[in-house]
Amino acid sequence: MSDSPDKVIILGGKGMLGTEVAAECKRRGMNFEVFDLPEFDITNTHQLLSVIHPAHTIVNCAAYTNVEKAETETELAFRVNAEAVGLLATSAKKSGAWVLHISTDFVFDGASGKPYAEKDIPHPINAYGRTKLAGERLLVENHCHNCIMRVEWTYGMKGDNFIKKILQKARTQKDMKVVDDQIGSPTATTEAAKAICDLIHKKPTGIYHFASQGYVSRFDVAQFIAEKLALDVRLTACKTSDFPSAAARPLNSKFDCSKIRPLLSGPIKPWQVPLEEFLKQL
Ligand SMILES: NC(=O)c1ccc[n+]([C@@H]2O[C@H](COP(=O)([O-])OP(=O)(O)OC[C@H]3O[C@@H](n4cnc5c(N)ncnc54)[C@H](OP(=O)(O)O)[C@@H]3O)[C@@H](O)[C@H]2O)c1
Repeated sequence: MSDSPDKVIILGGKGMLGTEVAAECKRRGMNFEVFDLPEFDITNTHQLLSVIHPAHTIVNCAAYTNVEKAETETELAFRVNAEAVGLLATSAKKSGAWVLHISTDFVFDGASGKPYAEKDIPHPINAYGRTKLAGERLLVENHCHNCIMRVEWTYGMKGDNFIKKILQKARTQKDMKVVDDQIGSPTATTEAAKAICDLIHKKPTGIYHFASQGYVSRFDVAQFIAEKLALDVRLTACKTSDFPSAAARPLNSKFDCSKIRPLLSGPIKPWQVPLEEFLKQL
């Protein structure tokens, strides 16, 4: 239970992004507390209410994030990504708390030729995206003081992500195929966490897109990594349709980040800068 109302409550605070949010809060000397599985289950009404009741600031990084499994475990994904967010919103409205909820580019179908702005109409093409969009809608419909920050192509030290997968494969395979028709912005969780802490100070309302600066294909990211680490691997470009998967993937994950920019304490870095830093740390 959180005992101080000025404390930042980080739900899902042991996940890939939540860990970095907690680290950034610590760096900035902010008062915070982390809640996550197995001790804390956001779908457990009693646990959720007792954690958020006295809080004024709640950052929700908790989510069911397995995109492939969400196609079959849709009910569980919906409970975590949507129902629980609705309950979070209802109780935040009662207590007057501000909720910063993390969402995803997967709310879009990726069919647009342009970078997605906050005003663009979502149209998810897989179960994970539909549950995340349902969560966004429940949050907004419940009229609590809320902000949604959508992130994309995130990577960090903790958990599974595209960057780590490329590195793992490159260690065991001489030849690697990587898709060149998915375009986005690889975004370090350390950078997303800084943006989250900036938003915590300003407590805005509404949807904001955050991603690193610049757009690139997954193939080009793999090539960047291979070059920087001098990996002994031959990369071949292929298409998303060459990899059969349960969940459809949006091809265009480009974000227009102009709305969030004035709220940030520093410029958004080009994707290459934090990625190079990350590779050095690995
Ligand atoms: N990764 C990406 O590329 C990406 C892209 C766009 C948006 N996002 C969004 O970013 C946010 C953070 O995700 P992430 O990348 O940090 O993924 P993550 O590492 O899977 O973090 C999610 C955290 O939520 C926890 N969680 C799952 N079910 C829960 C429950 N019932 N109660 C409490 N906690 C629960 C997970 O615990 P377990 O690990 O024990 O399951 C994990 O610690 C999510 O909203 C996600 O949708 C991620």
